[in-house]
Amino acid sequence: MNKKILVSTGGGDCPGLNAVIRAISKAAKRTKDWEVWGSMEAFNGILSDPPELMKLTGKKTAGIHVKGGTILKTTNKGNPLKFPMQQTDGSWIKVDRSQELVDRIHALGFNAVINIGGDGSQRISQALHEKGLNIVGAPKTIDNDLSATDLTFGFSTAVQIATECFDKLITTAESHHRVMIMEVMGRHAGWIALHTAIAGGAEICLIPEIPFDLNKILDKIETRYRKGKGFVNIVIAEGAKPKDGNVIGRQAVSIGDQHIKLGGIGNYLRLQLEEHGCKPQIRTTTLGHIQRGGTPVAFDRILATAMGVKAFELVKEGRFGRMVSYKNNQVVSVPLEEAAKGNKFISPDDYLVNIARSTGISFGDE
Ligand code: F6P
Repeated sequence: MNKKILVSTGGGDCPGLNAVIRAISKAAKRTKDWEVWGSMEAFNGILSDPPELMKLTGKKTAGIHVKGGTILKTTNKGNPLKFPMQQTDGSWIKVDRSQELVDRIHALGFNAVINIGGDGSQRISQALHEKGLNIVGAPKTIDNDLSATDLTFGFSTAVQIATECFDKLITTAESHHRVMIMEVMGRHAGWIALHTAIAGGAEICLIPEIPFDLNKILDKIETRYRKGKGFVNIVIAEGAKPKDGNVIGRQAVSIGDQHIKLGGIGNYLRLQLEEHGCKPQIRTTTLGHIQRGGTPVAFDRILATAMGVKAFELVKEGRFGRMVSYKNNQVVSVPLEEAAKGNKFISPDDYLVNIARSTGISFGDE
């Protein structure tokens, strides 16, 4: 046993993170010459004095694949390139601590790093790799919006949770002849909304990629109520916006937060529909972080385990500067710069959009 891997989980949590950690630990144990350590709260554990680390032994990781969250904890305020530091006068500045991070990782005797995270975390991986760190990435986000992989673990669990909630809303919508709006996550892309709308059988699905026209939504509701007392179920992604409007959210208020906090489009839509004469009663439910919590579904446990094993293989083979990816039903790897490039959006002619339209789902555009 003479080589050491450091594992980090960064950004928002996601069901399946623990399954990746466990898989890396198990795969490493079999080789007998690697030991695995975790940095607590992304790379903040390394930047702390003294460092906050967890040795990922077989005992520590046994059975964790069924648990949501991450035993290493996480943060979205830990970007080492723009690290929040408080000044003596109480004000905050952002400083680049990336070289210091690389130096500390080397000084602690780590031979390689596996960084599990979304697009922001993989941009950090790329920057650290350029500074000479032996690093590989593993992608995660419930939003499923990373361009370099067909799927991310956590997404199937989020869709399952959202669909179960949607099923419950249908029965109450039907009983009260109401319009129910369910807001789901998806800041850049509407994958959770689209999948939930098809699985749940929504009447209307609103996603960031297809800006909606309020009049089209009013027409659809009107049609559903024309023959008597109807009901309507709408799924809306947090990043959806009207044709001539903007996303609803608020600027990040705490220092170090990466982006604006979305949320509120469901209620905005309810108010707009009411103001424009929609007669049926309308209720809004915002699922929020419920979608990120709890036990991962079987598929996500399998995908996360496969990604953990692949990440360890990349380390063992010395193939650094790469990110694990799921493409054409295979777990492969892609260069980190490809992974850091950006988001995967729903094309308006995506086959699932066509399937949704064929089953009568309106995107509020026609
Ligand atoms: O994980 C991605 C995501 O779920 C987005 O859909 C959402 O906007 C964001 O995380 C919210 O994360 P947090 O509340 O942790 O900042």
